[in-house]
Amino acid sequence: MNDEPVHPVPDPPTIRAAIRLGCRAPSVHNTQPWRWVFDGTRLHLLRDTDRQLTAADPHGRQAVISCGAVLDHVRTAFAAEGWRTDTLRLPDPTRPDLLATIEFRRWPDPPVGVFRRAEAIDRRYTDRLPMNEPLGWGSVRLALDDLVSAHEVTLDVLDEGARARLSLASEQSDALRRYDMGYQAELRWWAGHPGTPEGIPPSALISESELARVGVARTYPTPGPSARRGDLDDHARLVVLTATGDTPATWLRTGEALSAALLECTASGMSTCALTHITETTAGRRLLSSLIGHPGIPQVVVRVGTAPDNQQFPPTPRRPLTEILTVP
Ligand SMILES: Cc1cc2nc3c(=O)[nH]c(=O)nc-3n(C[C@H](O)[C@H](O)[C@H](O)COP(=O)(O)O)c2cc1C
Repeated sequence: MNDEPVHPVPDPPTIRAAIRLGCRAPSVHNTQPWRWVFDGTRLHLLRDTDRQLTAADPHGRQAVISCGAVLDHVRTAFAAEGWRTDTLRLPDPTRPDLLATIEFRRWPDPPVGVFRRAEAIDRRYTDRLPMNEPLGWGSVRLALDDLVSAHEVTLDVLDEGARARLSLASEQSDALRRYDMGYQAELRWWAGHPGTPEGIPPSALISESELARVGVARTYPTPGPSARRGDLDDHARLVVLTATGDTPATWLRTGEALSAALLECTASGMSTCALTHITETTAGRRLLSSLIGHPGIPQVVVRVGTAPDNQQFPPTPRRPLTEILTVP
């Protein structure tokens, strides 16, 4: 006789473990703008609007992309534990903060890619230093196309000629905001402080001379002089993720696609850096649209490369589980 309940659900320790692992997801400025609530049967993802960047992200686009990333990370973590998740996105039109509701089913034989990506969660990090070109890119690119198209997102790889134009767009986006006190104050609030459970610590940031060799990068407060990977100019591939629209639903899907792509790259031994400073300006978006040459709204640029060393970056911090998860 089978004692399993009709609708089996993961027990609280499994839920805590999957959320803890999934919340290693990337988020803009490491704001971690999410909350999770388990109601005994279903798991709900809510966006935490208090954590939205009012200057850099006035419409909450990047906050919702970040929530999409955590949604995919958490689903991947559950899948690797044998739980299939059915996801209702934006299930209640009267509650825009409720981004997704997850229902569970047993999943005895998830595809092998799920385990690869789940195992990559703890190894993924944002690498802002110059990189070599990605080894084995051809086959990984095909896998990425499949992963992102499941979310109605397209992935374009820019040719080398685009690098100089994107570097210029980076400089322009920087120059535009140099005297924007709101933007600068926000950046300094979130980046460059050690010992906090959120934001980008100095150990994850790069010096001015390192930034000059990368070119396509957001300018953060610098942690002081250093010349890591000193003989290397950046040869990372520049990848653009483009959504079909510019709505919370398409942002959420973009975040899910971003998460799957970053984890697949990590599982294949590559390093990555998500970038949104170019898509924060109208001129930057126009440039990206002209470079990809097809309809859609460019949302995120990702640098994908191979790190030439075993440079150990300490993991960026995350908020304690008690602040982000409610379990009965
Ligand atoms: C939507 C989004 C936008 C981001 N934008 C940038 C960016 O413009 N520049 C950058 O260096 N990192 C960017 N990141 C990376 C985050 O800063 C990073 O994920 C966060 O600090 C946590 O660090 P980790 O990825 O190493 O875990 C972005 C991440 C996301 C999800």
